[in-house]
Amino acid sequence: MQGFAGKVAVVTGAGSGIGQALAIELGKSGASVAISDVDAEGLAATEERLKAIGAPVRTDRLDVTEREAFELYADAVVEHFGKVNQIYNNAGIAYVGDVEVTPYKDIERVMDVDFWGVVNGTKAFLPHLIASGDGHVVNVSSLFGIFSVPGQAAYNSAKFAVRGFTEALRQEMQAAGHPVKVTTIHPGGIKTAIMRNSTAAEGVDREGLTKTFDTRLTRTTPEEAAKIILDGVRKDRARVLVGADAKILDAIVRLTGSGYQRLFLSVMKRLVPNSH
Ligand SMILES: NC(=O)c1ccc[n+]([C@@H]2O[C@H](COP(=O)([O-])OP(=O)(O)OC[C@H]3O[C@@H](n4cnc5c(N)ncnc54)[C@H](O)[C@@H]3O)[C@@H](O)[C@H]2O)c1
Repeated sequence: MQGFAGKVAVVTGAGSGIGQALAIELGKSGASVAISDVDAEGLAATEERLKAIGAPVRTDRLDVTEREAFELYADAVVEHFGKVNQIYNNAGIAYVGDVEVTPYKDIERVMDVDFWGVVNGTKAFLPHLIASGDGHVVNVSSLFGIFSVPGQAAYNSAKFAVRGFTEALRQEMQAAGHPVKVTTIHPGGIKTAIMRNSTAAEGVDREGLTKTFDTRLTRTTPEEAAKIILDGVRKDRARVLVGADAKILDAIVRLTGSGYQRLFLSVMKRLVPNSH
């Protein structure tokens, strides 16, 4: 894939799944890549693959919830590469549990990583992206940032918030005449470790859900997802839907308005019989 030669791209959560595939695809297309994650082992694997391609890479352990560390990291990456053109705020976690039985701390944790992690990354890098003269903020929401399902209130909240934040930012950059493009990513089911890495409220059959996710709800590979995302970035899309499921479900939501809720509940009951 062409179009990123000479660019410096930052990818959070680059030790696994979509983030790893994005980093490698960016490296293949000529970008220098700054990768970070809390998972040292996964991160080392990504670094090794980038080095094998010959892509310039900088590797850091970074927890996206640590705001001060993120600010220092942004300065360090600019110092290292001389500039930053793109940030992919990709790091994320999944959680399953109904509101009734979910402790506050679990909702806060999901918001901390999935929403505040994106805000921290955006704000830490925004001045540098503006200064680059050719910047791009790419924030990973979800199909669950377009519609809600039972058991996903915490994740839905974070991903809807990412969408609101990112769509406002895009308009702000345009209104201010800043040289920064802004794209929201809405992946459908992507074959990654996200459900295996998830946590859940007491009594949730996490193993069963993970099996359903891995075997029935995911069709798109991380590599395919990365190509779709980078294509959307190159075309300066406001919104990128990743996967056929994302396109179909987004269309159903637009056509049915709030009517999708009744429809999806009955589908969920069939897919995950003991969930609700
Ligand atoms: N896989 C899907 O079906 C799917 C669908 C919609 C959206 N998404 C979103 O895509 C993004 C990537 O997820 P994935 O599917 O590749 O999952 P994944 O679990 O394979 O990768 C996520 C990575 O983020 C890292 N991470 C978690 N918490 C972190 C933190 N606090 N700081 C830094 N890194 C952290 C993990 O260590 C992991 O390497 C997430 O934002 C996720 O919500 C995934």
